[in-house]
Amino acid sequence: MKIQNFKHFQPRLVLLIYMVLIFQLVLTSCAPDDKEKIFVIKFPHVTAPATPKGQGAERLRQLVDERLGGRVKVEIYPSSQLMNDDDSLEALAFGEVQMIAVSLSKFDRLSPRFQVFDLPFLFTDLQEVEEFQASETGLMLLRTIENKGFLGLGFWHNGMKQFGAPIPLNNPADAAGLKFRIMVSDVLQAQILAMDAVPQKMAFSEVYQALQSGAIDGQENTWSNIWSQKFFEVQPYITQSNHGYLGYLLAVNTEFWRTLPDDIRTELEAIVAEVTAEVNARAEAINLEHRDLVLATGKSVLVELSEKDLEDWRAMMRPVWDQFADEIGDDVMQATAAGKVH
Ligand code: SIN
Repeated sequence: MKIQNFKHFQPRLVLLIYMVLIFQLVLTSCAPDDKEKIFVIKFPHVTAPATPKGQGAERLRQLVDERLGGRVKVEIYPSSQLMNDDDSLEALAFGEVQMIAVSLSKFDRLSPRFQVFDLPFLFTDLQEVEEFQASETGLMLLRTIENKGFLGLGFWHNGMKQFGAPIPLNNPADAAGLKFRIMVSDVLQAQILAMDAVPQKMAFSEVYQALQSGAIDGQENTWSNIWSQKFFEVQPYITQSNHGYLGYLLAVNTEFWRTLPDDIRTELEAIVAEVTAEVNARAEAINLEHRDLVLATGKSVLVELSEKDLEDWRAMMRPVWDQFADEIGDDVMQATAAGKVH
């Protein structure tokens, strides 16, 4: 009886296997190969479309449409509409999004070497930053977290940061006791502590509300972010301190990038190089334009620093370099203007 059942069972099993194989064959023949497949690049970011990053992202989308339309689609989500920076770092690691341009400060948790970009008064202007980024050491930083799933494709500038406050900050001593919003960065925390002020780490999208409600007194950011986030409405004084750099690592998920067909990856690399050059060439002009727009509103007064006050600011913040130099590494420190100072 058992044998008979088995005999009956066998042809059914064979039939079932055939059916599964045919089904798989149909699926495979229906699945688009790389020539037909559309690769979607989700690119969330936190700034407004008018900022250097916002304009860069849009230009990237445009060029991809023109040159790889039908094969690659870039979806841009600006103004924190999809997620904040912390979440986007996680989302990139998990492959939920494919491209990000998060401020370099926020990569300190992946490598302490990125902390160099936050050191106050280390870089005088964007030209100095660019020299460092183009150096062998700077290029090494691009790939330093590749094994953690983040492949750096380029550095994008925003600009130099300014301090906003409810009072004019001429001398650093004026900032004592004030509460400043900072990005999630230990260097920036040390910088505010060096001013005898109170640091408050906070997501970018929450800053306006916090200033308006008085939860914080001040913040530091570029003219383009001050303009597009309307911080000037709730910051009566803006000190043109140019005390720090705000820039981004344009990064992709390493695995996603490696598995792209070669011809697509090569074209995307060319587009990224072109857009990176454009963003960095235009960033300063955008910030100057946004500074003029802020000042034209009459809602914020510009505080310009005398050479003597500037010296005090530099002297007060200089110990922060020594505090982080070991973590950053001597090779990186030496490749910046700090190498010339020592
Ligand atoms: C950005 O420019 O991407 C945001 C910077 C910040 O969090 O202040």
